[in-house]
Amino acid sequence: MEFKQNIRGNVALGVNPLGCKQEVLNEIEFVKNKGTFAGPKKVLIIGASSSYGLATRISLAFGAGADTIGVSFEKGPKNERNLGTAGWYNNIAFREAAEKEGLIAKNFVQDAFSHESKQEVIEYIKNEFGGKVDLVVYSLASGRRTDPDTGETYTSAIKALGEPVVGPNINMQNQDFYTETLEPATDQEIAGTLKVMGGEDWQLWMEALKEADVLADGVLTTNYSYLGTELNRPYYGGGTLGLAKADCDEKAKTINALLADINGKAQIVVATAVTTKASSVIPFFPVYCIGLYKVMTEKGTHETPIMHIDRIYRDMVYGTKAEYDEVGRLRPDSWELDSDTQAKTKALIQQLNKENFNTDIAAYDILYKEFSILSGFMVDGYVEQDVTIEELKALEY
Ligand code: NAI
Repeated sequence: MEFKQNIRGNVALGVNPLGCKQEVLNEIEFVKNKGTFAGPKKVLIIGASSSYGLATRISLAFGAGADTIGVSFEKGPKNERNLGTAGWYNNIAFREAAEKEGLIAKNFVQDAFSHESKQEVIEYIKNEFGGKVDLVVYSLASGRRTDPDTGETYTSAIKALGEPVVGPNINMQNQDFYTETLEPATDQEIAGTLKVMGGEDWQLWMEALKEADVLADGVLTTNYSYLGTELNRPYYGGGTLGLAKADCDEKAKTINALLADINGKAQIVVATAVTTKASSVIPFFPVYCIGLYKVMTEKGTHETPIMHIDRIYRDMVYGTKAEYDEVGRLRPDSWELDSDTQAKTKALIQQLNKENFNTDIAAYDILYKEFSILSGFMVDGYVEQDVTIEELKALEY
């Protein structure tokens, strides 16, 4: 079967299942080459099938020897034209590799926002996972969420607040650099984004897990945030997503109070800008990324999700190099925020236009390759193999 890369706007529709598997193996290899570290042993990852969540799972399983439960929302193959989503195949490749090393790797492919999902995971922890988890990672990114109590569905909107934002954006489907206007969000869009990308569901998970007594003494829960800089504040930090991230900061306080009697901790981790399914559709962000990646590559500080996440857990959370800000958030994004990096990124972005954005003045090539890898294309070490739709359908997550 032939796998075709199919991009609409900045959304990938095609998938190469075997390429996805190779990429999971590449990330495992990256972690193994760094050696082992003392870390958590029983980990629940909510949003485990791609980018930051998947990288977390790989780093903790293959670096710290952790058993993992991964919750994600992915689709399997139906026919040759509809092969499902990359995360589906990532889950399978991860489980196979982890089981080969004698690790538990349980996948739940269902809506993490529902009460039922939480209860199923809790039952599994109680009955088959040793009874307790010592780390809960919340790495979910979604465009919609159904409130489990009211049944109402909310949609998130990546928008500015107050004033429209006008600026350059990139369309990877057409390799185009164009001017986009982002309208300010309505009150309903602000409320929807808070509901979907804010911290409410993280808190619901922690309350349900605590109530069921499946959190180990000293449990840690992490949640990935982004703050960025003045270069993306108008549409990120100062926009609807920024409000949602601030809501996670607030919910971290509530969760800290909830976990106090079991010596637990809720930790916001302000992660660096990376190319993911979720970040590719943030307006203007790809332009920031191709400037930033160019500068950081030249400085030797550019990271992919696996590089960044492995550094976060190995060196910071379970190591000795943690950097916190004045409100207690972990700040691995300090490399991105470095003042010289930002000044150079700003100067570079200002020079970009339709003619030069995809030349070696910036890092469009890196953005495009990283974006392609998310769907199993342009993966290092990939060797074409024959596979049938029946074989793909027979794979179990
Ligand atoms: P992603 O789109 O690669 O992954 C999202 C994950 O959530 C996937 O595993 C997906 O299956 C899962 N998911 C979505 N809806 C679900 C549902 N209803 N039920 C169960 N699982 C569901 O996203 P990415 O970029 O890795 O984002 C993860 C977190 O990291 C987000 O909070 C994001 O804001 C944050 N972050 C991302 C940065 C970036 O540059 N991409 C930078 C800093 C933080």
